[in-house]
Amino acid sequence: MNNTSAHGPAIDIRAEQPGDLVAIREVHRLAFAGDAEPRLVDALRSAGLTVVSLVALASTRVIGHVLFSELECHATRGHPRAASLAPVGVAPEHQRRGVGGALIRRGLELCRARGVDVVVVLGHPEYYPRFGFSAAAARGLESPYSGSEAFMALPLTPAFLAGERAALRYPDAFSAV
Ligand SMILES: CC(C)(COP(=O)(O)OP(=O)(O)OC[C@H]1O[C@@H](n2cnc3c(N)ncnc32)[C@H](O)[C@@H]1OP(=O)(O)O)[C@@H](O)C(=O)NCCC(=O)NCCS
Repeated sequence: MNNTSAHGPAIDIRAEQPGDLVAIREVHRLAFAGDAEPRLVDALRSAGLTVVSLVALASTRVIGHVLFSELECHATRGHPRAASLAPVGVAPEHQRRGVGGALIRRGLELCRARGVDVVVVLGHPEYYPRFGFSAAAARGLESPYSGSEAFMALPLTPAFLAGERAALRYPDAFSAV
């Protein structure tokens, strides 16, 4: 689907397949040093909320994964479609070689192509602005994370403007992990 070789071997990016599930869990377990993110991915998938799920492969081995999932969005204007970027993880020995960035950029392209109007993330304020996310764009969004500089948004379509007012409801999967 995609190919990047920022500082090392070529990395392929493709959609998640049924045979990847164990490897995806392992990538997040290693990246986050815990079980919360592997369980979050499984719970969101089981709830049928996947919008985009991509794996990064080095020599056919899964070394990274990103999930974008559906969020309920109630806006004062129109019916925007919102997605949450969570989690993204890269196996520790493959980090800082462009893999996470390639997964996120490809995922955002696919979200846009699938009609997502806005993507939100709760993450490192130094990392996500490089993809266009900002806390300013999330200012009009009501969510359990509103007000934190780690809560950032990226409008993807003209239907959704930075600062647009809307209430986001996170699925139970986020509180269950
Ligand atoms: C965050 C993560 C997905 C980034 O993937 P990656 O392949 O390592 O990142 P890339 O190579 O695409 O980008 C490297 C850049 O990300 C920055 N970066 C990586 N992890 C970061 C972090 N935790 N906080 C801030 N910046 C970070 C690096 O400083 C580097 O910046 P530079 O390009 O200015 O030098 C990966 O490091 C990871 O899995 N970390 C553990 C899990 C995690 O924290 N996930 C994100 C939760 S918000």
